Amino acid sequence: MRMRREISLIFTVVLCSSAAFSLPTADHVVHEKRDGTPEHWMKLSRTTGNTPIDLRFALKQRNLERAEEYIRDVSHPGSKHFGRFWTPQDVIKTFAPSEEAVSDTVQWLLQMGVTSKRIAPSAGRNWIKVNSTIAEAEKLLDTIYNVYQDDEGTALVACESYALPASIRQHIDFVSPTIQFDPRTGITSRRISKRETIKPKFKAVQVEPEPTALDSCSELTTPACLRAIYEIPEEVESVEGNSYGIVEFAPQSYNQGDLNGFFSVYAKNVPNDTAPIYNGIDGGYLSDELGSGTRGESNLDLCYAMSLVHPQNVTLYQVGDGDFSNPATNNNFLDAIDGSYCAFEGGDNPDWDGIYPHDASTPNAYTGEPMCGTYNATNVISVSYGRNEIDRPRSYTTRECTEYMKLALMGVTLLFSSGDTGVSGISGRCVKDNGAPTPVGAEYGRFNPLFPASCPWITSVGGSALPVNGSVGDQEVVAYEFAPGGGFSNIFPLPDYQTAAIATYYAEHDPGYNSSRYNNSQAVRGFPDVAVASQSFITGIDGGFQAFTGTSAAAPTFGAMITLINGERIKAGKGPVGFLNPVLYAHPEIFDDITEGHQAGCGTEGFHAVKGWDPASGLGAPNFARLKKVLISLP
Ligand SMILES: *[C@@H]1O[C@H](CO)[C@@H](O)[C@H](O)[C@H]1NC(C)=O
Ligand SMILES: *[C@@H]1O[C@H](CO)[C@@H](O)[C@H](O)[C@H]1NC(C)=O
Ligand SMILES: *[C@@H]1O[C@H](CO)[C@@H](O)[C@H](O)[C@H]1NC(C)=O
Ligand SMILES: *[C@@H]1O[C@H](CO)[C@@H](O)[C@H](O)[C@H]1NC(C)=O
Ligand SMILES: *[C@@H]1O[C@H](CO)[C@@H](O)[C@H](O)[C@H]1NC(C)=O
Ligand SMILES: *[C@@H]1O[C@H](CO)[C@@H](O)[C@H](O)[C@H]1NC(C)=O
Ligand SMILES: *[C@@H]1O[C@H](CO)[C@@H](O)[C@H](O)[C@H]1NC(C)=O
Repeated sequence: MRMRREISLIFTVVLCSSAAFSLPTADHVVHEKRDGTPEHWMKLSRTTGNTPIDLRFALKQRNLERAEEYIRDVSHPGSKHFGRFWTPQDVIKTFAPSEEAVSDTVQWLLQMGVTSKRIAPSAGRNWIKVNSTIAEAEKLLDTIYNVYQDDEGTALVACESYALPASIRQHIDFVSPTIQFDPRTGITSRRISKRETIKPKFKAVQVEPEPTALDSCSELTTPACLRAIYEIPEEVESVEGNSYGIVEFAPQSYNQGDLNGFFSVYAKNVPNDTAPIYNGIDGGYLSDELGSGTRGESNLDLCYAMSLVHPQNVTLYQVGDGDFSNPATNNNFLDAIDGSYCAFEGGDNPDWDGIYPHDASTPNAYTGEPMCGTYNATNVISVSYGRNEIDRPRSYTTRECTEYMKLALMGVTLLFSSGDTGVSGISGRCVKDNGAPTPVGAEYGRFNPLFPASCPWITSVGGSALPVNGSVGDQEVVAYEFAPGGGFSNIFPLPDYQTAAIATYYAEHDPGYNSSRYNNSQAVRGFPDVAVASQSFITGIDGGFQAFTGTSAAAPTFGAMITLINGERIKAGKGPVGFLNPVLYAHPEIFDDITEGHQAGCGTEGFHAVKGWDPASGLGAPNFARLKKVLISLP
């Protein structure tokens, strides 16, 4: 009762004071706008003025424009500070918005008649939240809010542009909720992505268990094949301070019985019941349902990560609960390993991220608070999940990529699969001229790059294979049982470590597509960075064995190689290697170049493998011995 009176009092105050506002003055400058109402959405009506709205002002971080310089300093092999990674405190201190950004914005809100008790700056100075109403927000932002409805009946309150005073604009990244359903950023794909994002990408084939035979590695891949192809050592030690993390999203769940079955036939170095160190995040749980949709990705990743690094421990970050109407995303994972990310640029987005607590009525629901800085990041983290760049607003995707940059500064090696659908996106969708996704498997349209594979601060792992009927020792080719993901970002500019490789690629092997297919400006991030075996990995599942194909298999394999080398570095009194790309591009001799094969997608052959870096196979397939030689030699 009392509560209710208090709230209505707040709104009375709002209405009175907003009535007293002068109209937004000429010094308001448009801050963000989009072009018309997105496809599949219809504008219904104006929003009632007294509707409550939580306005969030995301404050501009400082020094983000210096990211490249900072990364170069700690990760370039030529830098005298190589390996001197930042502490979390260094990261906060360097990037947090200025005191001035907070005080100017609060001052302006007060002048506009917002009472101070409705203004809540976050502890990390990242954003300012205002308990407001539509009428007040319309005045603050010189905008008009409308109710929109999509063709599935979902309603949303949004505006098509908004403005801020020039003096405040310089401090603000974005305000929400405002225009966040850009067609390019695909609210259309929001509905798709709820189902498609959190989905591993692989092709399963049923196989009969056969003891490890190196003469059939072109047909079925085993840990022994990988050791033989890449010269990965069999004798491995567990080194204190070394760590390797695998991320899985619900409902994917590994099954210990399946791992045991695999260990006992294909990885006899791993005793039965060896389990990963379990870090559950936001209700992370293990389902015992059968089937590749539940066990495939998790079992595949752990069978290979664990058998290649044993007795080194593998850490499992098991993310998300049983409520799939609001599933966990990378942001929920990142919050759990970096407390400074939770509120960064306004924090997670209720439209896209798992927002907790969940309602206890859903099975396996997480009814706790969202985790924030709960776990340490492992030295190497491998993730075999991805989404299309266009599936989320550019600001959302950039925020996430910036976090990968910060983890890189702190010395974390992040590996992401490059995708399994060539130049098209998840499920083979391309992009129409208006920026919306095409139907599944379209034979036309713009290429649809994957994220996080396209983020410049991670290492993107593509797919290779031994040639058809080939044997260990043959030069690998681009994977051909599926089309490994690769191409060029529509969001991220060309990072300096890749400049020479991209210049050579265009000078000697211009792929010949024009700008209606992809951003061919030569000024954007190209991916993948490396290619690793990815076909027919025998995996324990449902009490038997199946073979899984996809870059999902490649990333944990490459992660195992880096983990073994980190172990050697730590034993030698050095630290883990951190962000790899500046080293990899400076040392092409690490790789067996892949020059045969191509991808597919959007009615094209995608990109072809050529001499040097290319979007079908990156720099090529890493040779463990040469990779180790380079990485060990660094400080
Ligand atoms: C905003 O309003 C909600 C209730 O609508 C209340 O729980 C919260 O404490 C308020 N926050 C501020 C900063 O006034
Ligand atoms: C390990 O577990 C598997 C699967 O349950 C079983 O077939 C095998 O006999 C076990 N091996 C040992 C040594 O216990
Ligand atoms: C590996 O994990 C097990 C189980 O959590 C633990 O007992 C062991 O100490 C760990 N080993 C290392 C080297 O961290
Ligand atoms: C994280 O690492 C620090 C430093 O090594 C250690 O003190 C702390 O206990 C670790 N935290 C967790 C949750 O493992
Ligand atoms: C691979 O071997 C099979 C069986 O011997 C044969 O039928 C097929 O033609 C071979 N393919 C190539 C590309 O050599
Ligand atoms: C291509 O990328 C460059 C560099 O980021 C950018 O300046 C340009 O606008 C992009 N072209 C298109 C058509 O988006
Ligand atoms: C790209 O090429 C296609 C056919 O090759 C052509 O129809 C189209 O107009 C070209 N687009 C641009 C932007 O040059």
